[in-house]
Amino acid sequence: MKIKKAIIPAAGFGTRLLPATKSIPKEMIPIVDKPALQYVIEEAVEAGIEDILIITSRHKKAIEDHFDNLPELENLLENTNKVDALKELRDITNLANIHYIRQKEAKGLGHAVGCAKAFVGNEPFAVILPDDIIYSSVSCLKQMTRMFDKYQTSIIGVQTVKENEVNRYGIVSGTKIDEKIYKVNGLVEKPPIEKAPSNIAIVGRYIITPEIFDILENIPPGALGEIQLTDGLLELVKNQDMYAYIFDGKRYDTGNKLGYLEAIVDFALKREDLRNEFKNYLKTIID
Ligand code: G1P
Repeated sequence: MKIKKAIIPAAGFGTRLLPATKSIPKEMIPIVDKPALQYVIEEAVEAGIEDILIITSRHKKAIEDHFDNLPELENLLENTNKVDALKELRDITNLANIHYIRQKEAKGLGHAVGCAKAFVGNEPFAVILPDDIIYSSVSCLKQMTRMFDKYQTSIIGVQTVKENEVNRYGIVSGTKIDEKIYKVNGLVEKPPIEKAPSNIAIVGRYIITPEIFDILENIPPGALGEIQLTDGLLELVKNQDMYAYIFDGKRYDTGNKLGYLEAIVDFALKREDLRNEFKNYLKTIID
C-alpha cells in the first residue's frame, strides 16, 4: 500500500511569532520568498502524496487564497511577458489536490488530526507539521514513505535533541533495530527532563495507520490540557508495531523566532540568485 494522503494541521495561533501572526497565518510567513506551508506541500508532493487536507481555523483565509488561481495577476503577468513568474504562480495551484477543513475549537494536535477522519478513511496517511521545515537531498517524507514500504505500519520521524530541550517535544523510547530505526515501545509528550525516557524527539513528520482515529476520539486531554497526538500514538503502539526513524536532513523550527531566522539565512544562501551578494553582505556585518 502507498501513502497517498497527507494532513497538515495549520489551525494554531502562532503566538511565538506575534505580532506578525496577528493577521498573517504563521504558515504563510515567507522563508525568503515562499510561505513555509508551500515548502512542506512540495515535500509531500515529492513523496508521492496526491491529496492534502489542511486543517485551518477562522483566521487563516490567506492559506486558501495562496493555493488558488488569481486570474487578474496571471493576466497581468501574461500581458507583460513575465513568463517565469507566471509559471511559478500556476505551478502552485497545480501542486496537489488541496482540501480544507476548519478545526472549530483549539483543542490540540490530536484533536486537529481527528478532524481528518472522514478525509482519510481506512488507509495509512501522513501528518506534516508545517512549523518544521526540513532541508534534505531526498525529501523527509519520501524517506519516511520508503520506511513505510518496508515496515507497513506507523513510522514516526525523529531526531535526537539536547537533554535540556526534551520538554519541548514528544519523546519516544524504543529498541534500536537498525542504524536509524527504533522499534517504539513508549511515547510521552513534553516530559520534564527527569522523566524523559530518551532524547529522541518527534519532529513533525508522521505516517500513521487509520486505527488512530477511534483512539483520538476517546483519549482525555494530556500535556498543556490539550488532546495530544503523542498520547494517541501511545495507545496505538499497545496494539500495533510502530517505528521511529531518524531521518537525514537539517530541521528548522520556523515557529520560533531564532529557528525562523536560521531558516531564512540558510535558504537564502542556497539560492543561486542571492547567494553571492547575500554572503558578501553578511561578511560586512559579522565581526
Ligand atoms: C508538536 C508535537 C510534539 C512534537 C513537535 C515537533 O508539538 O506535539 O510531539 O515533538 O510538534 O515540532 P508543538 O511544537 O506543536 O508544541
